[in-house]
Amino acid sequence: MKAPNQVSLNERVPASPEKRSLLFGSAWYPEQRPESTWDQDLVQMREVGLNTVRMGEFAWSDMEPADGQYALDWVQRAIEKAAQYGISTILCTPTPCVPAWLAHKYPQIMGQRANGTKQMSGIDRQHFDPSDPQYLIEVARIAEVLARRFGEHPSVIGWQLDNEIGESSWSPAAAGRFQNWLQHRYGTLDNLNQKWGTAIWSGRFQSWADIPLRVDTHVVHLNLAIFDWQDEVWENYLRVQAEAIRHHRRRPQPISHNFSYDYARQDAEHAGRALDIMGVDPYISPLTCHNPDRMGFYLAITRGAKRAPFWVLETQPNTTGWGPPNAALPPGEVRRMMYHQIGHGADMVSFWQWRASRTGAEQYHGSLVNSDGRPRPILSEISGAVQELKALDSHLAGTAVKPGVAMLWRTRDRLHLDRQRFHPDFDAWKNAHDQYGAFRRLGLDVEVIGSAQNLSDYRLLVAPYLHLVDTALEESLLAWVQTGGHLLVGPRSGWADEEGARRVDGQPGGRLAQALGARVDEYYALHAPLGFSSKMAGNGEVNIWAEWLEPETDDCQILARYDERHPWLSGRAAWVQRHYGRGAISYLGCWPNETLWTRIAQVVSQHAGIDLPWYPLPQGIEVSTRQGPRGNIHILCNYQDNTVKIRLPGPLRNLLDNSRKQTLALPAFGVAVLSDI
Ligand code: GAL
Repeated sequence: MKAPNQVSLNERVPASPEKRSLLFGSAWYPEQRPESTWDQDLVQMREVGLNTVRMGEFAWSDMEPADGQYALDWVQRAIEKAAQYGISTILCTPTPCVPAWLAHKYPQIMGQRANGTKQMSGIDRQHFDPSDPQYLIEVARIAEVLARRFGEHPSVIGWQLDNEIGESSWSPAAAGRFQNWLQHRYGTLDNLNQKWGTAIWSGRFQSWADIPLRVDTHVVHLNLAIFDWQDEVWENYLRVQAEAIRHHRRRPQPISHNFSYDYARQDAEHAGRALDIMGVDPYISPLTCHNPDRMGFYLAITRGAKRAPFWVLETQPNTTGWGPPNAALPPGEVRRMMYHQIGHGADMVSFWQWRASRTGAEQYHGSLVNSDGRPRPILSEISGAVQELKALDSHLAGTAVKPGVAMLWRTRDRLHLDRQRFHPDFDAWKNAHDQYGAFRRLGLDVEVIGSAQNLSDYRLLVAPYLHLVDTALEESLLAWVQTGGHLLVGPRSGWADEEGARRVDGQPGGRLAQALGARVDEYYALHAPLGFSSKMAGNGEVNIWAEWLEPETDDCQILARYDERHPWLSGRAAWVQRHYGRGAISYLGCWPNETLWTRIAQVVSQHAGIDLPWYPLPQGIEVSTRQGPRGNIHILCNYQDNTVKIRLPGPLRNLLDNSRKQTLALPAFGVAVLSDI
């Protein structure tokens, strides 16, 4: 039974997906400018077509200038002024910045950098200790105060918690909490020492207090434990704020957070458990040209965390202020990026920021209008794209990306591999991108997921490197394969247990090895490309990494072998597969180049019974598909510098010009929105 003040789950999210319109917005900081300029901002926003602003995320000292003295009238005036122009608000909790009075009252809530510097209020942000119990009380308190006041305001359509979480504290107090957590997890020091194998280098810990909160040591198990602890700390940090808001909101105001690039500091799925809708801040810089697989992978993690549409809460208007150099994007790039984000499942595109800062740290950063309110050259491009996309709202609203291919990607694997690359170019993040990109080049959408739960929506699961494996993970993967799933695991899979210690029964070891019917006999860092030949995928080259695979059962098929260029690997198996239950498992022991990867992706997709209506897709063309009750909408973007002709899977209607064609000529930076009805 729900407590009297609690809203039910159905009230927590927009009632019906069909009614959900796309949102276009910008970060807006009314507290930083005279109130007399607000109208000027909002008039222009309305002209551009924006229907949302995000506000408040850094404004604690203006919302509560002194302990318990709340000053929220300006927030209300800003929300209502925006509403007069038809603009709704995503209201943020202001918790990334600790006001001075709070830092004085509870000095322990301020964080400490890894180099020992104590953080201070007033000179930066993300400077608190997210594990400090008093800070959790304070952030829940301010979230509650805001929710009590604005939780039934009709113009507040959602919440953002904090801003780009992830800067942890490395203080002695935080270390003490980490040690308590270790004690809770391992029970005894003997158990910890045994699991971490601390006999190496006389590293046996004899007291919990001796275990440091440091990631610069050689103890890889310590790094994983620190990640796990901080991951829990951040999830809890979001949860206490979310719960405070949930308790007091009276309208469907979904709660989100704007995660920053690459999810290196927390597991997206874990952090997402505290939220109603995922949110993300994808920026193109420092590249001046958008790499769709780089941003796309990041968006796919965001979508995969809840397997649902998400919000882009910040993105790049033209230049950033932190890239070396901050070159402007070519005309057309921002429009294409907006289509790309929506194609990947974004239901909101919001820019950072509306008006350039007149003071403070990021005065040169891109914005939509200048600090004096003059429109910047990029504004007309953004305005054009917003108007176009809003005109498509009836087609796009309520649709979602629903891939049949998933990629299992976990930050812990990456963390462990990054500590022990063995080949300096074995960049786990890039390796995952390469694999992701191979399926995207076939025109397939890919869901990037963080756990092997509920796989029944997918026919094919790719695990670029299933480096750390435990029995529960093996069980769920194999149960899904039994029922017809196709699993492709990449090199370095099944290496270690979840603590990061090598498995005692070889690689991949455990139930995975039994099901695959093969083992990895040896691994090699490559200093030159090596040939790969396969009846199914053809000949090609691999680089950086190659494993010698050895079948152990007669029915384990060798799908590819290495050529004679490597003295140890000549003729050895590079890719093996075995049918298991109604599905199949295959293990690829190397890092193929782009062309070869695309052919491998094609072969495994076809084995898994996945249609490839877009294959072959011309180079540089990206397709994403949003499915809805009334059919599919395909969003195509051209990343080539020239016009590209595309043969469509059938006659499709281009909603941008209402033409119905079987072929399409997409100019450089061009986009198309195609409907199959
Ligand atoms: C984001 C941050 C914004 C702003 C922006 C531009 O990471 O959330 O507040 O700093 O970058 O650099």
